Amino acid sequence: MAEQRSGSTEAASNVRERPIVESGSAVKARGLEGVIALESEICFIDGQAGVLVYRGYDIHDLAENTCFEETAYLLWNGRLPNHAELDDLNETLRRERPVPERIIDLLRAAPADASPTAVLRTATSALAHFDPEADDMSPESNYRKSVRLQAKIPTVIAAHGRLRKGQEPVAPLQEGSIAHEFLYMLNGEQPGRAAERTFDACLVLHAEHGLNASTFAGRVIGSTLSDIYSAVTGAIGALKGPLHGGANIGVIRMLLEINKSGLDPAEHVKDKLSRKERVMGFGHRVYKTLDPRAAILREMMEELSEERGERAWYDMTAKIVDTMEGEKGLYANVDFFSASVYYMLGIDPDLYTPIFALSRTAGWTAHLLEQWTENRLIRPRAEYVGPRGLKVPHIQDR
Ligand code: CMC
Repeated sequence: MAEQRSGSTEAASNVRERPIVESGSAVKARGLEGVIALESEICFIDGQAGVLVYRGYDIHDLAENTCFEETAYLLWNGRLPNHAELDDLNETLRRERPVPERIIDLLRAAPADASPTAVLRTATSALAHFDPEADDMSPESNYRKSVRLQAKIPTVIAAHGRLRKGQEPVAPLQEGSIAHEFLYMLNGEQPGRAAERTFDACLVLHAEHGLNASTFAGRVIGSTLSDIYSAVTGAIGALKGPLHGGANIGVIRMLLEINKSGLDPAEHVKDKLSRKERVMGFGHRVYKTLDPRAAILREMMEELSEERGERAWYDMTAKIVDTMEGEKGLYANVDFFSASVYYMLGIDPDLYTPIFALSRTAGWTAHLLEQWTENRLIRPRAEYVGPRGLKVPHIQDR
């Protein structure tokens, strides 16, 4: 009893802000909103002011002045790399990029209409079988595996992206950045400088976001001292849902539908709202103002649409944004604009969530490394509200 009492006091002191309901000795928040579950040095978000900071650096600064590899290094190590450290990381990423042939066989075996996010989830799990240090929980090994996963996940997504269209995988060039190599492996041709730079900035913007559902899922798995492949596989499973990373696929489907049908974007959205449907790419659990990533992506998308003579696409999205703000007071989130940026880059819609996973791998693995520096099993409780005192009747009497 004494232990229970001190547990509930500790829980109460770890809970801040709104919808928290005191219930006996327990504290409830249905979606854990407002609950501070742990301390982290990785990411700061001010949801009221629309501020996002990785390891002390504002997201605008990082998107403008770092490449994805520098950001990943920052997330893993807590500081930006110098030249030699970045070269070293790039060299390791290149070496680690190829995946075993049997992983390619596994991708080949997936039905052509399998969800690429589900295939990535399966392949990430399978990668563990080919890593002799998969279960080595030393910090050095977990760091190496973080880099390894970051190197191999783009290869898996690109190879599957081709195989499902009847095309053979393209081997990495072993000379470019993750953005460059991914677009090359996916399309079989080298991307232009502008496309690479835009895609790279998208990776920086999606790399980390505090204790979001997939990162939390990964940390819960990691907190049992399970291995990094299990944790990242679980995180991909959480990301896949349409309320999280899967939203970007919902966004592009909606935009394509409006574009094809010639529907008025504002009317289409109002119609959805009147049916109490969610409009993908809007709203956020933490941001109560514009998501700073969405603001950056919006600018990138406007530039791209001008360059590609697709101003009408930008105008369509702007109308949806205005309608959602006006009708519901809801702002666009990262998924709303990243979907259009990837569309402008010519990427297949159902690859958008795997690409989110590609970039969030940096954040997931950084959180796992942090979790394991001072591990504590994450194990909350549920309040039991079911029946009590029942007696088992004989099977013939049920
Ligand atoms: N479309 C329509 N109504 C919405 C939406 C939306 N996208 N988002 C929230 N609402 C409404 C909701 O119906 C509710 O209205 P009412 O009070 O009238 O019943 C109100 O806003 C509050 O909703 P909530 O579910 O309590 O808000 P939440 O903070 O728990 O939800 C969310 C956050 C992301 C789950 C939600 O905004 C949503 O479902 N958005 C659409 C999916 C999406 O874009 N997800 C990506 C999130 S950002 C990137 C990521 O994490 O992957």
